[in-house]
Amino acid sequence: MHLEELLKRYKQEHLLALAGSEEERAALLAQLSALDLSVLSCREESAARGKIAPITGMRRGEIEARAAEFGEIGKEAVRGGKVAAVLLAGGQGTRLGSDGPKGAYDIGKTRHVYIFQCLMENLKETVRRCGAHVPLFIMTSDKNDAATRRFFEEHDFFGYPRDFVRFFVQEMAPCVDFSGRLLLEAPGRLALSPNGNGGWYASLKRSGADADFPAVEWYNVFGVDNVLQRIADPVFVGATVACGSMSGAKVVCKARPEEKVGVLCLEDGKPSVIEYYELTAEMAEQRDGKGDLCYLYGVILNYLFNARMLEKIASERIPVHVVRKKIPFLGENGQLIRPEAENGYKFETLILDMVKLAGSCLPFEVVREHEFAPIKNLTGVDSVETARALLEQNGVVL
Ligand code: UTP
Repeated sequence: MHLEELLKRYKQEHLLALAGSEEERAALLAQLSALDLSVLSCREESAARGKIAPITGMRRGEIEARAAEFGEIGKEAVRGGKVAAVLLAGGQGTRLGSDGPKGAYDIGKTRHVYIFQCLMENLKETVRRCGAHVPLFIMTSDKNDAATRRFFEEHDFFGYPRDFVRFFVQEMAPCVDFSGRLLLEAPGRLALSPNGNGGWYASLKRSGADADFPAVEWYNVFGVDNVLQRIADPVFVGATVACGSMSGAKVVCKARPEEKVGVLCLEDGKPSVIEYYELTAEMAEQRDGKGDLCYLYGVILNYLFNARMLEKIASERIPVHVVRKKIPFLGENGQLIRPEAENGYKFETLILDMVKLAGSCLPFEVVREHEFAPIKNLTGVDSVETARALLEQNGVVL
C-alpha cells in the first residue's frame, strides 16, 4: 500500500507535511506497515466492568499444611522441563529514571548488586531445590534489547547456564497526541513505545524461542522490579496444578483497605484483576464474617499460566489500555520537544487482563516481607530504599 493511502485510511494525513524527503516517506511506510495500527481506534474511557464479587484464595495456613505435597508436584514438573520462567523486562522504568535497562540498576551498598542479579540468584535457589535448571525467557523491547543482552554477557549470565536463557523482543505501539494524531520523534521516525506487558505471549510465539523447550507446560511470568521474587516456586506450581486451575497468581494480603494495588476478584463469575481506583470505598472496606477484607488479595505481578490454555486464547483480543503520558515529539519547526505535562497517549495491553481470559485462577498468598520488594521509584514508597531494607531483612548482603 502507498503511504498516502495508508495515512488516509487512518486519518493521519498530517504526517505527509512532516515527511519531506523520499527517504523519510519510505521509512515511515516501513514503520507503519510493521505496526498494529488498529490500536488507533481505541479510546481512553475505561471498559465497563461486569459484576464484581470476592474470590476465594489459598491462605498461608493451607499452603504450609500442604507444602510437602505441593512441593513434590512442583519439583517433579521442574525436573521434567515443564516449567519455564518469563522475565518481563521490556518496560522503560521511567519512574526509576535510569538510562539503561531497569534490571541493570545497581542497588548494592558495599558491593555491586544489580536487580537482574537478585532475580538470577532467586532463580538459582529454585534450581538448587529442584535439582534441575529452569528455562528462562527474557522479554526486552527495541529500546533496551541490545543493552540487556550485553549486560547479561558482561556478567556471564550471573552463573546461569546460557543454554537455558532466551531473549525475545516485544512489539512496539505508536504514540499519538490528544486528538489521536501520530507523533514523530525524529524526521521520518515515529514516536513508539513498548506495547505493554500483555503482549508477552504473542511476542514469545512470534520469536519462535518457545520451540526450543517443547516440554514446557507452565509459564511463570514476573516483573523485573520485585527483587524478592521467588521464581518457578515449586510449591506455587504444585498448588496450581493440584487445584486444576489454568492460572495462578501470587498475592499479598492488602495492608490497608485503601492500599494502591490491583486486587483479584470475580467479574461475572470469572477471575479478574480490578485496579484500586475501580474499587468503591465501600467495596474496599467491606469485610467477611472472619473480619478479613473481602477484596484482600493484592497482585504482585507473579503469575503462572498453563501453556495449552495460552495456545487456546492466543487468538482472543486482549483489551488495549489508552494511557496519558509525556511523549517527546518533533515540533513543527523540526525541534524535539520534551513536554513538561502529559501531551498524548500510549497504547498498552496488560498481563493482568490475561487472568480473565484464562478462565480460572488460584490466588496463592505469600508473605509480603519475604516475597515482595518492588522497586518502582528512587525514594519513598516501593523504592530502592524500601527494597534494600527488605533484602537485608531477608539476609542479603548489599
Ligand atoms: P511497570 O508498569 O512498572 O512499567 O511494568 P515500567 O515501564 O517498568 O516502569 P515505569 O512505569 O516507566 O516507571 C511492570 C513490568 O512489566 C514490564 C516491566 O519491565 C516491568 O517488569 N513491562 C512493562 C514490559 O515488559 N513491557 C512493557 O511494555 C511494559
